[in-house]
Amino acid sequence: LAQAFIIGADFVRGQRSALVLGDNLYHGHGLTELLTNAVENATTGATVFAYHVTDPERYGVVTFDEAGHALHLEEKPAKPKSNWALTGLYFYDENVVELASSLKPSPRGELEITDLNRLYLDRQQLRVEKLGRGYAWLDTGTPDSLLEAAEYIRALEKRQGFKVACPEEIAFHRRWISQQDLEKLADRYKGSYGAYLRGLTLYRAN
Ligand code: G1P
Repeated sequence: LAQAFIIGADFVRGQRSALVLGDNLYHGHGLTELLTNAVENATTGATVFAYHVTDPERYGVVTFDEAGHALHLEEKPAKPKSNWALTGLYFYDENVVELASSLKPSPRGELEITDLNRLYLDRQQLRVEKLGRGYAWLDTGTPDSLLEAAEYIRALEKRQGFKVACPEEIAFHRRWISQQDLEKLADRYKGSYGAYLRGLTLYRAN
């Protein structure tokens, strides 16, 4: 994963950047504020997120000292020292390209994101924010976990009648697009998705 900063160096060199893994799914009230804070705080160092799981051996694992500061990071440890997994969302300062370039491949032949985060930890510049139990962090990287994530989203959407992470809806509520724009977008979809978008125009009007 850390290789992303070498491949994309021309795009991100000299500025702050974020990396999110395409198979990670985040959901929870207050997530937007949490991310906004991370962006605002990420002027120096790195910000990453930890989540309590029952199978930490599948992930990067972080341990904390008594004061709650990150102490130790390990990638997919056979015997994890904690249940706190590091999730696939990372905010870095402008040094990330240079630091990623200094990494050596791990035994599995990859430039590990955990090694990159450890460089920040060693410089005392790694902030690890815990995502509390009110958040869902799911991964969709295996057929089983993809189905679990789909069931989670299905249950929520069915119960509430709201979609999770509908781009047009977010743009409309943030007033990045007008009601007319939304109606035009809705016309591009014939089925229930279009009907949902049309329903939103009434929702904001109320
Ligand atoms: C990667 C990272 C790991 C992180 C995980 C989150 O694992 O290496 O530290 O906890 O993503 O999804 P991988 O996708 O390589 O198994």
